[in-house]
Amino acid sequence: MANNKPIIFVLGGPGCGKGTQCERIVRDFGFLHLSAGDLLRDEVKRKSELGKKCEQLMKDGKLVPAEVTLSLLSKAMKDANNAKGYLIDGFPRALEQAQAFDKTVGRPNLVIFLECPQDVMEKRLLKRGETSGRSDDNLETIMKRFETFQKESLPVIAFYRKLKAGLVLQQSSVPPPDMVYKEMELIIRKAITPVISTRDAYSQCSLWPGPDCPNILNMDNPI
Ligand code: AP5
Repeated sequence: MANNKPIIFVLGGPGCGKGTQCERIVRDFGFLHLSAGDLLRDEVKRKSELGKKCEQLMKDGKLVPAEVTLSLLSKAMKDANNAKGYLIDGFPRALEQAQAFDKTVGRPNLVIFLECPQDVMEKRLLKRGETSGRSDDNLETIMKRFETFQKESLPVIAFYRKLKAGLVLQQSSVPPPDMVYKEMELIIRKAITPVISTRDAYSQCSLWPGPDCPNILNMDNPI
């Protein structure tokens, strides 16, 4: 925790629904939502030197240098001293980012990994691209973003699984957004409220105690 405040990372492939789920978490937990992509897009809009450097990398579906995202995030966290907690979306996306955050800021209380098949993410992004105005919501860049995710971001999930059992909550983001959120809500509450016992949180899961409850399986037996 940064200053004893909870930190949640929300990770997953391009278009899996990170921003969509973050809206719901913010609504119910009042955390400060920091999207690495939005922070970078703000820099690009500002036409700062940093923004100019990042713009092309983003259009190419590549990651911007680790020190850039880390410094934007650390500053935003410092500026929001009164936040109840931090919900960080789209960071860390590479092992070096995860390691640097661990050293300089702290360890997350929970890492949410939203899992979604590539063809579903592709359809979502192409649909969003009809109106988003985002320079990276086109088929060519989307394919590059998928590649970057597979190569650089998936190892981050493995890193957190190794770091601590139960740290990663793996959740399918294929069902409708409210259903996805409902499956995660109690686990999130448990992760940031140590007084709620594990059993209490699990017993309220709609599928408990069956072996089909994806959250229980993933919390107890991280792959
Ligand atoms: P970023 O902005 O983070 O893009 P992304 O990871 O590709 O994810 P998106 O924001 O496109 O999608 P999302 O998962 O939030 O899904 P959303 O909720 O919007 O990053 C952009 C770029 O910035 C990167 O490529 C990189 O260059 C750079 N960057 C960012 N972070 C970096 C970092 N840490 N280090 C270095 N570089 C970095 O949903 C998508 C669509 O699907 C929406 O239309 C939504 O309505 C719909 N939808 C969502 N959930 C559902 C659902 N359950 N059912 C049906 N539709 C759904």
